Amino acid sequence: MSTEPTLWNTVDHYFTDLLTPADAALTTALQDSEAAGLPAIAVAPNQGKLLHLLAQLQGAHRILEIGTLGGYSTIWLARALPTDGHLITLEYKPEHAEVARANLARAGLDKITEVRTGPALTSLAALHDENPAPFDLVFIDADKANNANYLEWSLRLTRPGSLIIIDNVVRGGAVTDATSDDPSVRGTRAALDLIATHPKLDGTAVQTVGTKGYDGFALARVLD
Ligand code: SAH
Ligand code: DHB
Ligand code: MG
Repeated sequence: MSTEPTLWNTVDHYFTDLLTPADAALTTALQDSEAAGLPAIAVAPNQGKLLHLLAQLQGAHRILEIGTLGGYSTIWLARALPTDGHLITLEYKPEHAEVARANLARAGLDKITEVRTGPALTSLAALHDENPAPFDLVFIDADKANNANYLEWSLRLTRPGSLIIIDNVVRGGAVTDATSDDPSVRGTRAALDLIATHPKLDGTAVQTVGTKGYDGFALARVLD
């Protein structure tokens, strides 16, 4: 096992340098996030590009993100939107939201993005009360304990054909432990159970390796 992470990093850097070349807005977003003391847990560049491509394939006009951090994944997602598109991203910590707003403005995306501060469960209830047009894509990437709750809210805020993506579903492998008392594992397992059993969801989960280590994501399509 010991040499594998090095190999994952080498291959990830090869893919990233070749296919997602450096970009001023994205690079500065990460630099300013680090300078502001935010944890370095944004999606990797090639994962961000995957989110971007999925949003484009979705023909997304409206995107919802739960868990903003410094807005790195937000930039990748929002860049897939048409000029009349809209992205709402939910962030608990005001200091993260502030960094994200500056990063989105620098990327020229402030007109089509909105960072809402507060606990996402509260923001989601408020958003639902606004009776918004359905979101075409939801990216769930906040506190993992609430993954199933976020998925339930996502079902109320989407349409048949919408795509829901959940980040970080591997939990170092602990996701297989049905007896775990880790809230992140329990929340993630509950979300995966919903994908497996909910009549309006069809999905899968995929393990990943790379510069972020060993992890994975779940994808679910909303059905009629
Ligand atoms: N999507 C980002 C990474 C998000 S990290 C990217 O890839 O670039 C997870 C974020 O979720 C953190 O900023 C954290 O503050 C936020 N968060 C944690 N609990 C939350 C909650 N209950 N409601 C909203 N945001 C929350
Ligand atoms: C953590 C959160 C994330 O969203 C991620 O992609 C990696 C790590 C964390 O809370 O440690
Ligand atoms: Mg994540």
